[in-house]
Amino acid sequence: MSVVGIDLGFLNCYIAVARSGGIETVANEYSDRCTPACICLGSKTRAIGNAAKSQIVTNTKNTIHGFKKLHGRAFDDPYVQTEKIKLPYELQRMPNGSVGVRVRYLDEERPFAIEQIAGMLLAKLKETSENALKKPVADCVISVPSFFTDAERRSVMAAAQVAGLNCLRLMNETTAVALAYGIYKQDLPALEEKPRNVVFVDMGHSAYQVSVCAFNKGKLKVLAAAFDPFLGGKNFDEVLVDYFSEEFRTKYRLNVKENARAVLRLYQECEKLRKLMSANASDLPLNIECFMNDLDVSSKMNRTQFEQLCAPLLARVEPPLRAAMDQAKLQREDIYGIEIVGGATRIPAVKEQISKYFCKDISTTLNADEAVARGCALQCAILSPAFKVREFSITDVVPYSITLRWKSSYEEGTGECEVFSKNHAAPFSKVITFHKKEPFDLEAYYTNPHEVPYPDTRIGRFTIQNVGPQHDGDNSKVKVKVRVNIHGIFSVANASIIEKQSIEGDPNDVPMDTESTCKNQRKEDEQDNMQIDQEEGNHKNQADQQNQAEEETEQAGAETKGKMMMQDKLEKERNDAKNAVEEYVYDFRDKLCGVFEKFITEEDSNRLTLMLEDTESWLYEDGEDQPKQVYMDKLQELKKFGQPIQERYMEHEERPKALNELGKKIQLLMKAVEAFKNKDEKYDHLDPAEIEKVEKCISDAMSWLNTKMNAQNKLGPTQDPVVKVAEILGKSKELDSFCNPIVYKPKPKVEPPSEGQAKANGEHNGPVNGQSGAETKPDPAKDNFQPTKPSGEMEVD
Ligand SMILES: *[C@@H]1O[C@H](CO)[C@@H](O)[C@H](O)[C@H]1NC(C)=O
Ligand SMILES: *[C@@H]1O[C@H](CO)[C@@H](O)[C@H](O)[C@H]1NC(C)=O
Ligand SMILES: *[C@@H]1O[C@H](CO)[C@@H](O)[C@H](O)[C@H]1NC(C)=O
Ligand SMILES: *[C@@H]1O[C@H](CO)[C@@H](O)[C@H](O)[C@H]1NC(C)=O
Ligand SMILES: *[C@@H]1O[C@H](CO)[C@@H](O)[C@H](O)[C@H]1NC(C)=O
Repeated sequence: MSVVGIDLGFLNCYIAVARSGGIETVANEYSDRCTPACICLGSKTRAIGNAAKSQIVTNTKNTIHGFKKLHGRAFDDPYVQTEKIKLPYELQRMPNGSVGVRVRYLDEERPFAIEQIAGMLLAKLKETSENALKKPVADCVISVPSFFTDAERRSVMAAAQVAGLNCLRLMNETTAVALAYGIYKQDLPALEEKPRNVVFVDMGHSAYQVSVCAFNKGKLKVLAAAFDPFLGGKNFDEVLVDYFSEEFRTKYRLNVKENARAVLRLYQECEKLRKLMSANASDLPLNIECFMNDLDVSSKMNRTQFEQLCAPLLARVEPPLRAAMDQAKLQREDIYGIEIVGGATRIPAVKEQISKYFCKDISTTLNADEAVARGCALQCAILSPAFKVREFSITDVVPYSITLRWKSSYEEGTGECEVFSKNHAAPFSKVITFHKKEPFDLEAYYTNPHEVPYPDTRIGRFTIQNVGPQHDGDNSKVKVKVRVNIHGIFSVANASIIEKQSIEGDPNDVPMDTESTCKNQRKEDEQDNMQIDQEEGNHKNQADQQNQAEEETEQAGAETKGKMMMQDKLEKERNDAKNAVEEYVYDFRDKLCGVFEKFITEEDSNRLTLMLEDTESWLYEDGEDQPKQVYMDKLQELKKFGQPIQERYMEHEERPKALNELGKKIQLLMKAVEAFKNKDEKYDHLDPAEIEKVEKCISDAMSWLNTKMNAQNKLGPTQDPVVKVAEILGKSKELDSFCNPIVYKPKPKVEPPSEGQAKANGEHNGPVNGQSGAETKPDPAKDNFQPTKPSGEMEVD
């Protein structure tokens, strides 16, 4: 199985994988460790991640970003309605009432469910991890904010399904961070000792989360969690956007908020400015060219001024810290350390607020951007049988208390009972006993609506069927198992009628069961098991949800998905062809004033420069969106002019080496021939007739070399060479294959050749072609060899 952790962020996503060396954050095809949570649906195809982000400003209506908090929400949800006004793309009500987006894709207006959009993003992240691991990926752990409710969690699970991912656990972001912190710590207190309490603060782009965790050796227990789901870097950027919009209104008479593109550009610039201000307290400029109505705008801001503007946001940093500490029932002095992660914790004033509250320095042991993904990968490794990871038990908490309410027509009125209190340990199962005569409904909901950042407190409705009275007409004892599972999703897991009174819980439960009796009407007898049925509705249990998602991908999905993938492939090829033209233009232009400069006449250079310029403009105008073939033709056209220059340059670079090599070979052969003539005993086995041929061959090569070099020296660098490097190398090879077998023929052995050999060799002193001489290595080049007739005089320079 694969071990992959995915931090599914609001702005950016990170992926960590386990390899033999440990946990690594992996980079995407742009060598970026973060992939923007952005999907652009175009008239031809989809772009996801970096490629989509670059289109936020140009293709506003079809570029979907900032959708993380739309998961599991109804279209009528107040949060959705507020966002609807701010988002540059359109939101739409899906048939089941949930929110979707409306885009123009493949020249057709169509809605996409958030699960489909997030599914595309996850599919991209899956692909990136597959490229990194070089094998298929299915199993993974995905992070969600700790404040995500049941509906939001189920929506993320459905998105994972769309992407073909098997999410082993939805992990709370702060819990992932805590795991990434704790698992490598060698010095945690022993199990029986007082735990080490650490506060984790995560302020990302869209939300602020705090958790208090207790660590012992091999054990992490979340004590409490608190959050402000609507405070993040985005809000700080918004303050800047509002400020500058107002300034530009008076200074330039521009109504920025009316222009979606201008707003998006301003957001991008403000995000940059905010990051700069974190490192630099002096006045910093903000300049945007051609901002609106062809106007360039400029302004400035400094940190002090920024902090004043953000005072209301900064005041929201403390309350969750206080809430988490109160719930954990800890004092500041009980806290060992405060660890911060998330991009927005880089804002100095945010750090200050945190450190001021705890009267303590804060530490940044963890990678602020990658800790969540790493924690998820670690969790995945723990769940994987294929990986050996240090045992580490994780107990999380339920963020909101959950109540069960029931009614039955037989009894008058309704009853209710809080089954999970706030900060109750999770995952956890409980068995609840009811005394009933007939089927009944259970409704689960969040107890305190004001605690939950979600308008609908209902979690789900469950019907317990097949309940009847006992033989004597009395109530049956019904045991219902309820559970908050590993994903943080609530469900009614099981129900049964108990034959005898039993006080033991289900031994299968993890980590343990408690039995709470909600309504006590003592009486017991025997009956058969019952099934649970769940009401159709907005909220379904996890199994149903998954079935539905599966069905969807299989039916409508399969067709669209296939079409999309085909389209993606074609579009990729088209884009590659376009990029090749663009790259050629940039690369050539650079080299024209660089290495190619002296290989082209000024006149040609001017002509080519103009041509490259035209092509560049064309790429942004008529050539913006052309079929693949058009780009390929364009590239061919450019190459027709570019190729000769490139070749002259290459030839010039390589020629000296080739010439030198040939010259050296000639010298060596000449030396050998001379030695033979001087009766050097090293060569006394050679045939004088053969040597004569060699001399001719050398003389021929020499005169060839001289002629060519003389001619070449008369040419300037802007003219095509008379001799190509390939020809020189060919000449060299020719010399080798003709002369070497003769000149470097090994001396024959002293013992007489065997009969067979003698016959085969005939009377020749040695085989010219080296066919049977035991010590002659066959020369692979010999078959191609065609001796040239020696001609001209030998000259040595
Ligand atoms: C609503 O429908 C969309 C598809 O149109 C689906 O993705 C989503 O999961 C559904 N939501 C619920 C709560 O059933
Ligand atoms: C801060 O920004 C100003 C203005 O751009 C610049 O002159 C200065 O060098 C910067 N200081 C630091 C420490 O980067
Ligand atoms: C910051 O900006 C304010 C308002 O423009 C100005 O009064 C103050 O002097 C500036 N501070 C610095 C350090 O530049
Ligand atoms: C964290 O996740 C678990 C499931 O792993 C869930 O039960 C719990 O409610 C979550 N905790 C918080 C603080 O949100
Ligand atoms: C449901 O409960 C019964 C009785 O406790 C048990 O035998 C059965 O295994 C349970 N089923 C599941 C799916 O937990």
